[in-house]
Amino acid sequence: MTNKSYELTDPSSGTRTALPVRSPTVGPDVIDIGALYREQGIFTYDPGFASTASCESAITYIDGDNGVLLYRGYPVEQLAEHSSFIEVAYLLLRGELPGAEQHAEFERSIRLHTMINETLLRFFNGFHYNAHPMAMVSGVVASMSAFYHDTTDITNPEHTEIFSHRIIAKLPTIAAAAYKHSIGQPFVYPQNHLDYCSNMLHMFFAVPAEPYEVNPVAARALDLLFILHADHEQNCSTSTVRLAGSSGTNPYSAIAAGISALWGPAHGGANEAVLAMLNRIGKPEHIPKFIDKAKDRDDPFRLMGFGHRVYKNFDPRAKLIRKMCHEVLEELGGRDEPLFELAMRLEEIALKDDYFVEKKLYPNVDFYSGIIYKALGIPVSMFTVMFAIARTVGWVAHWKEMNNDPGGRIGRPRQLYTGPAQRDYVSVEKR
Ligand code: SDX
Repeated sequence: MTNKSYELTDPSSGTRTALPVRSPTVGPDVIDIGALYREQGIFTYDPGFASTASCESAITYIDGDNGVLLYRGYPVEQLAEHSSFIEVAYLLLRGELPGAEQHAEFERSIRLHTMINETLLRFFNGFHYNAHPMAMVSGVVASMSAFYHDTTDITNPEHTEIFSHRIIAKLPTIAAAAYKHSIGQPFVYPQNHLDYCSNMLHMFFAVPAEPYEVNPVAARALDLLFILHADHEQNCSTSTVRLAGSSGTNPYSAIAAGISALWGPAHGGANEAVLAMLNRIGKPEHIPKFIDKAKDRDDPFRLMGFGHRVYKNFDPRAKLIRKMCHEVLEELGGRDEPLFELAMRLEEIALKDDYFVEKKLYPNVDFYSGIIYKALGIPVSMFTVMFAIARTVGWVAHWKEMNNDPGGRIGRPRQLYTGPAQRDYVSVEKR
């Protein structure tokens, strides 16, 4: 708490309420409005929560004006250059970078949890072959609470530890099973001698009929993409996990709620929507027409992969992914991938347009990621699943922080009611 406070005076009654100010380690102060309804009988109103801090957190910090993203204080650029997804997972979950032994133990534990219950595999036969992978993954993750009910005591630290390792380890296996089901190929079991991303690529692309060698460039590109997608403060899906978890539900169901929220095209579904948009634009000469559509308030079309609630400058992740595009396309072929050329041209034109400049709409994390996923051979329908695999680490870190908060309460917002005032029932003859 600081010694600063705001004061609100009720204009009719003159009641004055002091609203204490709390200061963060870095970033904007917050006004604690907890006394407002009790003392003045009024609510605050902030649909979309653009000016609302929903919780106290020590995990990730974003400075949207300066394009800064810190995981437990470490700049994402440095983690992308020096770290690995498993090490970043440890950092986000535990709060510190692991020593060599801690890293080895954590990675070993994750590897030992990569297989899923054989009965869970049979769930996939219940899905039609053309079911969207996000529908399959969210359904199967929700059903994990039926298989692992022996570790859903959220008050038991051992249970929550096993849950966090299980869900991080099994998401790639579940994702790969969804992918194999959608292309009619047999499921490929995890190979625990492989690292996290190599194991995932092996499960995706190996077939029993022939040997499969993971391309280390592809594995490293995936590891980088997962680092950049691992967490992002109180975004829509993370807030969903926290809200669902605040009811005391089992953690697998809270994560499944986050997967559902991520699926939306305004959020994690944007990476899939960007590819669809680029294919729809087709050629550079069509770009102005689509820019005009995006600027037309009467046209629901938006430039997918552009804009962000928090970043009013370049999304630092978009910068790193764009740079990676060049390297990965160079290494894996597709150097002149027409969609990448088109995306860079679209970015160039949009960032010179007054509408985008005035509204501070820059490319976000989803604008380029799909181009790399495509270069890795991952189908568009799996793009948001890839996002979910990485963001599971952030969801688990925030779920644990929420679950361990001694002052934690169930999330229960109020509303501005604009429906009819009380009225009496009218029998049908009189209507
Ligand atoms: C992610 O929150 C996170 O951190 C999310 C994420 C994470 O890591 O978890 O970063 C991942 O979800 C990235 C965002 C991916 N979504 C998209 O790329 C979809 C396209 N973007 C828009 O839908 C939008 O920009 C949002 C949803 C990202 C942000 O929406 P906001 O903050 O509610 O902003 P807004 O809709 O109020 O837009 C402000 C203005 C509006 O114009 P006016 O009403 O003021 O005239 O900007 C316009 C919008 O119409 N605008 C766009 C636009 N984005 C905003 N116009 C055209 N194209 C766009 N993409």
